[in-house]
Amino acid sequence: MKVLIVGSGGREHAIAMSVKKSAKVDKMYCAPGNAGIGQIAECVPIGAMEFDKLVDFAKKEAIDLVIVGMDDPLVGGLVDEFEKADIPVFGPRKNAAILEGSKAFSKDLMKKYNIPTAAYETFDDADAAIDYLKTKAEFPIVLKADGLALGKGVLICNTLDEALEGVSTIMKDKKFGDAGNRMVIEEFMTGREVSVLSFVDGKTIKIMSSAQDHKRAKDGDQGLNTGGMGTFSPSPFYTKEVDEFCKKYIYQATVDAMAKEGRTFKGVIFFGLMLTEKGPRVLEYNARFGDPEAQVVLPRMKNDMIEVVEACINGTLDRIDLQFEDNAAVCVVLASDGYPVSYEKGLPITGLEAFEGKDDYFVFHAGTKMGDAGFVTNGGRVLGVTAKGADLKEARKKAYEATEWVKFDNKYMRHDIGKAIDEA
Ligand code: AMP
Ligand code: GLY
Repeated sequence: MKVLIVGSGGREHAIAMSVKKSAKVDKMYCAPGNAGIGQIAECVPIGAMEFDKLVDFAKKEAIDLVIVGMDDPLVGGLVDEFEKADIPVFGPRKNAAILEGSKAFSKDLMKKYNIPTAAYETFDDADAAIDYLKTKAEFPIVLKADGLALGKGVLICNTLDEALEGVSTIMKDKKFGDAGNRMVIEEFMTGREVSVLSFVDGKTIKIMSSAQDHKRAKDGDQGLNTGGMGTFSPSPFYTKEVDEFCKKYIYQATVDAMAKEGRTFKGVIFFGLMLTEKGPRVLEYNARFGDPEAQVVLPRMKNDMIEVVEACINGTLDRIDLQFEDNAAVCVVLASDGYPVSYEKGLPITGLEAFEGKDDYFVFHAGTKMGDAGFVTNGGRVLGVTAKGADLKEARKKAYEATEWVKFDNKYMRHDIGKAIDEA
């Protein structure tokens, strides 16, 4: 088979490593990819939003399967374009990717189908939102831009003043662009967060091993929200009781709700859950693998990735026995100091060869490029260093050891990824 992966981050590198293990795969392409992906696949200089070029390339190279990793092209309808060209493709169509693409849509869906989530109101108009905040709101409160905003369109406001400023940021100043044309105002919840990824074939859903992300830039969950600074899997807080609750009220209910709405979902649903005192609640849905969740979940998956993906496309996921290794993984993101605001690019990276030939260690490239003399940094999140261990403690120790193998100027990481396991 010839497989094309669309995207360029650590998640796509993790997907590519999984795909590469399949005996069914002869040749792998990635558009646009990055320098690390380029070591195991042929990178094609086509952007993830260049739909016509991607479809032309897939036709020309007789691609047998496309896997779309990123949210923007999914929400924009890239899957529909490949389907029109009769090219097998893994991911939700545009009308289903709206599950991630519009927070107002996903909240309305949850309300309609009684899927547990925070109470909320939707606003198309800043004045109505301001009026609501002044008369009905309790603080803290959460403001969410409706559309995609690189995971940054959520503002937690402790006071009315902060919330009024938030409305301006989202709806008037349009800090998140058109994503802020609508806004959801939501009840503030507290609890531990868990990421649960799943494969879905339209009717059947199979849950992957749980994970936990660390979204803030600095130790102790301080600093700005980022795309994710590190992950561990499984989450010790995702207990049997939590699993049973989610299976009863959340997972299948979501898949069935989408089908009932005429928006059959095929691909990956990522459930962002909060484990509140009243039980698990959905914080958000994503329509793709998480980044860096994929970097700890996929290395632990025992199944042939291509078989699972094809089962999702063909509607035969019920026949797949999804299995994960009985171990743990931790991923520490190596960023460029200054991320997520501003940072240098083009800094030489050394030490990557230390990962070669070590089965328990992985270095996933996120923002890297091949320079004249080797790898250089090319983004805020540069690399994801993952280690597997018998348990989370061992995986964590190994992952942090491996972060020392890699060197580049301005290297920055959190030092408390997986610290929560000490409290489990
Ligand atoms: P989201 O993109 O919706 O997952 O939101 C990003 C982050 O904001 C989440 O991971 C939570 O940490 C936080 N968050 C979102 N919604 C809420 C809420 N209703 N209550 C408390 N925190 C929230
Ligand atoms: N790590 C969170 C996300 O992928 O959205």
